[in-house]
Amino acid sequence: MPGALGKDLLGLASLSAEQLVLLLDTAVPFREISERSIKKVPTLRGATIVNLFFEASTRTRISFEFAEKRLSADTVNVAAAASSVAKGETLVDTARNLEAMRIDMVVIRHPASGAARFLAERIESNVINAGDGTHEHPTQGLLDLLTLRDRLGTLRGRRVCIVGDVLHSRVARSNIWGLTKLGAEVAVCGPRSLLPNAVGEMGVTVFDRIEAAIEWADALNVLRLQLERMQAGYIPSLREYNRVFGVTRARLERAPRDLLILHPGPMNRGVEIDSDVADGPHSVILDQVTNGVAVRMAVLYLLAGGRPELAEAAKTGGA
Ligand code: CP
Repeated sequence: MPGALGKDLLGLASLSAEQLVLLLDTAVPFREISERSIKKVPTLRGATIVNLFFEASTRTRISFEFAEKRLSADTVNVAAAASSVAKGETLVDTARNLEAMRIDMVVIRHPASGAARFLAERIESNVINAGDGTHEHPTQGLLDLLTLRDRLGTLRGRRVCIVGDVLHSRVARSNIWGLTKLGAEVAVCGPRSLLPNAVGEMGVTVFDRIEAAIEWADALNVLRLQLERMQAGYIPSLREYNRVFGVTRARLERAPRDLLILHPGPMNRGVEIDSDVADGPHSVILDQVTNGVAVRMAVLYLLAGGRPELAEAAKTGGA
């Protein structure tokens, strides 16, 4: 019996505004648990969750693990390089073998766009997309929405510009879907070589100059240049990119208002963002990381609500 989110969380494109608000509102009380000296509630006691990571991750993997442990779930981390995937086992065979050990949820990060859906359609466990190729990174999108809503009060009518390597960014796609559904105005800014051809069809404004984006926006979400996904020469050099599109203190000082600065991490300091901006008074980058744990607790809790045995544990454990 699916709960308020259905069986899986694969992306924000398929969620309604009501589901997004439910997720954000559910995350707010979960933040308090992380401030306690004993950071644990019994909400998911008895649930077994596998974190299946086929790509490197610091924030997302550790944040999911904290979220799971703070809800008292039993967690297992599987890194592809140290599993039978390295011997040629398929994604589905790996997941089916894990299911044979009676798991409840799989959190998956994978370099292929669509991998999370492919898995969700083939296993009974709840599947949570922790980033698939250039498709979506829904929990990153949610933590960005929560951080922006905290600071701006509402997202409706607020102006958020996503800066940089939109072409390779699953974070950009999840942000565009989430922000537009919640009534924000969204823009992208970067070299044309790093913007998808059809980005205008996603209902966003396109800025070619960072100065114009800064003049327009209430918040900048600065993306990492994904050097590992770039096979061709998308930009002349990192130095040139910083000179033309870098988010620098000098540029922000000329803005008509104080802008919130977000970055999903990991940062290339001195390339897409300068250190005095990343560490400056308007940066909410570490608030994003804090909110990540609460948002992931909310996702786990709401997905568990669709499973009768876990819903029962959630009711007795409380949030
Ligand atoms: N923001 C993000 O996904 O970071 P990681 O790659 O470290 O998980």
